[in-house]
Amino acid sequence: MGKVPFNPDKATWHPSVLPGQVVLVSTVDGSGQANVAPKSWVTMAAFEGPIVAFGCTRAHRTLRNVEETGEFVMNVVSEPMVDRVWALPRHHGAERLRRSGFTLGPARRVRPPLVDECPAHLECQLDDVKWYGAEAFVFGRIVAAEIDPDCLAGSSAQQYLRLRPVFFLEGSTYGSLDAAKRIGRARPGGQRCFVVEVGPGGAGSAAVEHAAFLQRLRGAGLLLAAGTYAPGGDGHSPAAMYVVAAATAEAAATLAREDPLVRAGAAFTLHTWTRTF
Ligand SMILES: Cc1cc2nc3c(=O)[nH]c(=O)nc-3n(C[C@H](O)[C@H](O)[C@H](O)COP(=O)(O)O)c2cc1C
Repeated sequence: MGKVPFNPDKATWHPSVLPGQVVLVSTVDGSGQANVAPKSWVTMAAFEGPIVAFGCTRAHRTLRNVEETGEFVMNVVSEPMVDRVWALPRHHGAERLRRSGFTLGPARRVRPPLVDECPAHLECQLDDVKWYGAEAFVFGRIVAAEIDPDCLAGSSAQQYLRLRPVFFLEGSTYGSLDAAKRIGRARPGGQRCFVVEVGPGGAGSAAVEHAAFLQRLRGAGLLLAAGTYAPGGDGHSPAAMYVVAAATAEAAATLAREDPLVRAGAAFTLHTWTRTF
């Protein structure tokens, strides 16, 4: 198949051929004042160390702080956080932290804080900085790491569904990962799912609360997809249909009973669903 050449200048890439995982890099300045900034030119660099690295513009406070104190934390961003993460650069320093609503907690081995809302953290000591004009690549040695125990529970597929890492594509477009699949097997390993059909019926406040309920399930890494359909065909009352990851049918039914539409009287049915892709 013939390929066409494209401009190697990354700023012109649509689509981006190198998505980068989004993290929040937290640092402190010499007086201990914390700073948190999103970064996506992020990679593992060496097992030996272990060494991680991120790209940063020279003018950024993150880089100044890292050079001043020699420490940073990579806080792994999960999909439920994306709106707040993209809003961070609108403000700077303490004002950014105040407006973000993120909670900062102490790290175990370094002074920069952990962003509590993130499911995992890599505490790092500066190893090296490689300069490219106004940009730098910052290498750090991981000296401690923490993860939300929920991300360690269940099958590998369920663990990634909870961690749900996010990848910068371009501008305000990102991609997320909610399925870990084994090579040679189409089915995401061990992900037990159930389709929940609710209704038809349910409008007003119950419908609003239903949407918030689904957001909570997604935030908890339990919801794969959700939407509405009209069981009687176009023009008929819509019903809700969503897919939840759960260990057993009873666990899925327990979730469904908490749905505000169901609590308001709508009937629900449950079907075992085998995720193929
Ligand atoms: C999702 C996302 C990813 C970003 N990735 C990077 C990056 O990899 N490198 C970089 O220098 N800036 C990146 N930025 C921009 C910085 O976060 C932004 O310029 C910020 O204001 C820098 O803050 P600081 O001066 O406190 O370090 C990114 C912004 C967003 C929203």
